Amino acid sequence: MAQLWGGRFTRETDKLVYNFNASVSFDKKFYRQDIEGSIAHVVMLEKQGILTKEEKDEIVKGLTGIRQDVENGVLQITEEYEDIHSFVEANLIERIGEAGKKLHTGRSRNDQVALDMRLYTRAEVLAADELLKELLETLLHIMEENIETYMPGFTHLQKAQPVTLAHHIGAYFEMFKRDRLRLRDIYGRMNYCPLGAGALAGTTYPLDRYYTASLLGFEAPTLNSMDSVSDRDYVIEFLSALSTIMMHLSRFCEEIIIWNSNEYRFVEIDDSYATGSSIMPQKKNPDIAELIRGKTGRVYGALISILTTMKGIPLAYNKDMQEDKELTFDAIDTVKGCLALFEGMVRTMKFNRQIMEKSAMMGFTNATDAADYLVGKGVAFRDAHGIIGKLVLYCIDKKCSIDDMTIEELKSISPVFSEDIYEKISLKTCVEKRLTVGAPGSEAMRRVIQLEKEYLTGDWYHEMGIPESLS
Ligand code: ARG
Repeated sequence: MAQLWGGRFTRETDKLVYNFNASVSFDKKFYRQDIEGSIAHVVMLEKQGILTKEEKDEIVKGLTGIRQDVENGVLQITEEYEDIHSFVEANLIERIGEAGKKLHTGRSRNDQVALDMRLYTRAEVLAADELLKELLETLLHIMEENIETYMPGFTHLQKAQPVTLAHHIGAYFEMFKRDRLRLRDIYGRMNYCPLGAGALAGTTYPLDRYYTASLLGFEAPTLNSMDSVSDRDYVIEFLSALSTIMMHLSRFCEEIIIWNSNEYRFVEIDDSYATGSSIMPQKKNPDIAELIRGKTGRVYGALISILTTMKGIPLAYNKDMQEDKELTFDAIDTVKGCLALFEGMVRTMKFNRQIMEKSAMMGFTNATDAADYLVGKGVAFRDAHGIIGKLVLYCIDKKCSIDDMTIEELKSISPVFSEDIYEKISLKTCVEKRLTVGAPGSEAMRRVIQLEKEYLTGDWYHEMGIPESLS
């Protein structure tokens, strides 16, 4: 048991207590950030005349050596240390002796861990953003290829009105785009350096917190030392954004599972992203989509866990906060894994265009347009709605679609119908007439795709992500 605080104690910590309290098994994940923060700290200490140049050089060399040895597997981070901070400091002292004992001058593990967690999370915000960007590129590619792939649009999982595959995928494009905005927003808010807050009340050493902050790429230092060591808002915000990403992925997965079912066959998941059954030879299961949908639960769990942990904590640091790590790390890894897998799954998925189009032709997705046709001929909408309702009943009985009815049949229900009805309610017309911003008609869709392209290359994209032409 290697502890930093033995001086005040006369008896060894109980083994169970030690294990319960220790965090090295999981906080070793941010050993790089811990070392990076320590290097910035000593560079600042030297600038302020608190350490000599020789001491600083020795410490930086020692810390760099530890990082290299851990990376090469020469040095193992073992459970005999209480946490990653103790591991690094103990190793440093072992390596360089006296100078190593000065590393922790003007610092507490409270501001140290606050920094490590922030550095770790900050990098992961960017990593998640990058994965989202790749997914958006894949989605945009599918959209471009499917501007005229007609399919039914649904409400209540009942066929409603025809749309296109580009339009349907475009809805998810918007969701993931908002997810990126959230990450960007969180990044900006979290990018302040807590180091120098000490245990809770700052320190008496003349630290230059602005300098440390700039060395670590932060906007500025945090402005209240008690808040600095006890703030985990950024973890909560990140987990909330990750939960929303999972909710979006899960909804998309749910649709893919439905589309991939024997009844729909809108898509076929590539063999490399599907699995078989041990007993039923014919099966090809959408396990990856199901697993992503399923893993959404554990990411929500992490969010609820940290919210609950934080809700009763008085200022400033309390050990409860050590619970911020394991589930957060798990959630981050889960979301990153899901994003990468999902991107591959949709990129390799085959869309059965004919089946989608055929499905859009059935199920009376042009009923609204047929009613609008009557309105165009002077019938009041409510009456038109009633007439088309009757027509649908007639078709259900005859097992045909509105387009299959002869003009005589149509006229027998309403004399207002004439030959132009067929063209007016064709699948193509129903989609292509919808040309307002955000609608599925090809021309409207092409304009949106152009805007999304510009967004992805980042030209016009301003802070709120709203294109000039739409605002
Ligand atoms: N392992 C601790 C954590 O994760 C580090 C901070 C320890 N501070 C303390 N006062 N015991 O929060």
